[in-house]
Amino acid sequence: MRAAFITQPGPPDCIQVGEIPDPHCDDSHVLVRVRAASVNPIDTYIRNGANYWPLPNPFVIGCDFAGEIVRVGKHASHLHEGQRVWGSNQGLMGRQGTFAQYAAIEPRWIYPSPDSVNDRDLAATALVGITAHLGLFHRAKLQPGETVFVRGGTGGVGAMVVQMAKAVGARVITTAGSPEKADRCRQLGADEVIEYRTTETKEALARFSPHGVDVFWETLREPDFELAVAGLAPNGRMVLMAGRDARPPFPVGPFYVKGCSLLGFAMFAVAAEIQQQAAMDINHWIDSGKLRAQIDRVLPLGESAEAHRLQESNTVAKSGILQGKLVIDID
Ligand SMILES: NC(=O)c1ccc[n+]([C@@H]2O[C@H](COP(=O)([O-])OP(=O)(O)OC[C@H]3O[C@@H](n4cnc5c(N)ncnc54)[C@H](OP(=O)(O)O)[C@@H]3O)[C@@H](O)[C@H]2O)c1
Repeated sequence: MRAAFITQPGPPDCIQVGEIPDPHCDDSHVLVRVRAASVNPIDTYIRNGANYWPLPNPFVIGCDFAGEIVRVGKHASHLHEGQRVWGSNQGLMGRQGTFAQYAAIEPRWIYPSPDSVNDRDLAATALVGITAHLGLFHRAKLQPGETVFVRGGTGGVGAMVVQMAKAVGARVITTAGSPEKADRCRQLGADEVIEYRTTETKEALARFSPHGVDVFWETLREPDFELAVAGLAPNGRMVLMAGRDARPPFPVGPFYVKGCSLLGFAMFAVAAEIQQQAAMDINHWIDSGKLRAQIDRVLPLGESAEAHRLQESNTVAKSGILQGKLVIDID
């Protein structure tokens, strides 16, 4: 099969595109013909040698997938051949990835695709959508009527957080790096948008939410605890999910005196059963138009290295070049 893979970690140029053997699909797996995948920041960290876990060799890159089932193992009876499906969690914890014509996947990571939604949109929503759901509902227990602040309302995760918080009746404040991105945030449902390059975020946040926000979601890899603790309401919750190497200062006193909580998580470490609940809500919202995939551009499999360059530039170098996900078409 045709795949994008690495045989050793390194810069984007180490990604090879070519023929490798089809995956072995035993009774506990389902063989999926992948039609679309998408790029996530963690793909670039792993490719670059993050060494979170041992990798198969060759290692097929990519976590997200959408396509159709071509073979079902004996122990996966709730799925059937020809069924359209989507999911994430591949390319993680030692599993093979999805930038390939075929992927052998455990049934617990596979969700039915709504008829009304195409493969590109499902691939673009997979990891970021599940992440937003886990953070807002499994960790922060967001309630209707509460106020959420999230940095980067057009980012991969941020755009999902904005839309899901609105879907359950929360008020949303977010940031954007340009007037165009601010408009996009409003289209996604944001109530207030702070253009952080021209406006001081801390002051604007205090203006938009004088009593503080109930949930402060930090998407940056260098969390700003001064901003977060100042911006949180009494008993507010901060969601933390980026920046493994960050060691920022922390205002201890103001944090505990307000009774705040700090909630960290990594989506790949959350149980499959909990992620399935997230996927069912995503299916419902995306089918009903409450949740829209955000796609910056679609690239062919042969441009996987370029896709990694763009993602790295956006997330690590903070260039702001993306406004949505990078989707990979797999012919
Ligand atoms: N723990 C987990 O389970 C998990 C899951 C998914 C992702 N992550 C991590 O979460 C992080 C974000 O992922 P992503 O896919 O959302 O990345 P992304 O699509 O690259 O988004 C990055 C966002 O950061 C914003 N930004 C950059 N500099 C900023 C600044 N100075 N002030 C305010 N906003 C700023 C950008 O906004 P503008 O474009 O408006 O400038 C952009 O929206 C990554 O580190 C990723 O590894 C963790």
